[in-house]
Amino acid sequence: MVESVKGIAAPVSGINNPTLGKVLEAVVAASREVSRSVRAGPLLPEPASPGVRNVHGELVHPLDIVGTERFVEAFASSKVVAGLVCEELDEPKFFEVTNPASSFMCVLDPIDGSSNADIAITIGSIVGVFPTPSQTALEGETPFLRSGSELIAAAYVLYGSSTVLVLATPGLVQEFTLNEESVQFELTRPSIQIPESCQYYSVNQGYENRWNPPVRRAVGVASKNRSLRYVGSLVSDFHRNLIRGGIFLYPDDSQNPDGKIRVLYEAAVFAYIAAQAGGASSTGTVPVLDLIPSSVHQRTPLYIGNATVVDEINEALWS
Ligand code: AHG
Ligand code: MN
Ligand code: MN
Repeated sequence: MVESVKGIAAPVSGINNPTLGKVLEAVVAASREVSRSVRAGPLLPEPASPGVRNVHGELVHPLDIVGTERFVEAFASSKVVAGLVCEELDEPKFFEVTNPASSFMCVLDPIDGSSNADIAITIGSIVGVFPTPSQTALEGETPFLRSGSELIAAAYVLYGSSTVLVLATPGLVQEFTLNEESVQFELTRPSIQIPESCQYYSVNQGYENRWNPPVRRAVGVASKNRSLRYVGSLVSDFHRNLIRGGIFLYPDDSQNPDGKIRVLYEAAVFAYIAAQAGGASSTGTVPVLDLIPSSVHQRTPLYIGNATVVDEINEALWS
């Protein structure tokens, strides 16, 4: 099935209904604006209230605010997104929709890797799309407390040396690149499969002294005969490993007993994308796609990428 989507140059495969096409249109519209703000770098105006911290206690960057505003506006005016969980918003947000039965619920990290934003390093936006549940009242956190296996589409946008949008739908992962002249995304990788050979690993090795023995063993297995690449923006590290072949690890450690990566708008979204591209993921205990969070900002340890190496990591953690 293909669908025309405003902002994408040709009809998009894998989008099997116009309503889902509207969600993608909102993602495209928001990310094109965020891309412009990212490119402004230090020239972006300061926010009204500097020094604000989010629900995770992290300093909010001006781009976190811009990203949140652009995506919230785009989802609100789409009339097909009924609810949103966003890293930068303490509580879920709900929107008016044309038809609740054919609407969607989104999860969003508006700017991933924002600590890299001030040094002109690649950052991105992460979006997961769930169908709206029919039996659950649309209020509070409950309609979002579901596993990544319920996602029906997912995407991320990388603001790197070019701006690329990677879209995953059942069994298909495609990459589009923003043509800055036409301001349209154009298909640049029609079908991404994670390479079978795993040449790279990505982990913050500086935390080694905080890891317990099983985690050290797992990182030892994952790193053997592989080159290390670590950007510190999950979206960039994930993209590199997806295209070049690799494995990303963010284990639990003595300072972060639940790890750092957030279940809903980071781990589950990438787990869905990895699965459609032939990869795999684990929390170290269960497949990420099976994890049902008990709160919307919950964290999890994350091992994601090459499926064989994810198996080896699980074995090392439990041997
Ligand atoms: P965010 O900017 O959305 O808060 O996410 C930052 C995350 C993730 O992108 C990255 O993989 C990780 O933080 C890096 O953490 P360390 O600096 O602890 O390695
Ligand atoms: Mn993030
Ligand atoms: Mn973020």
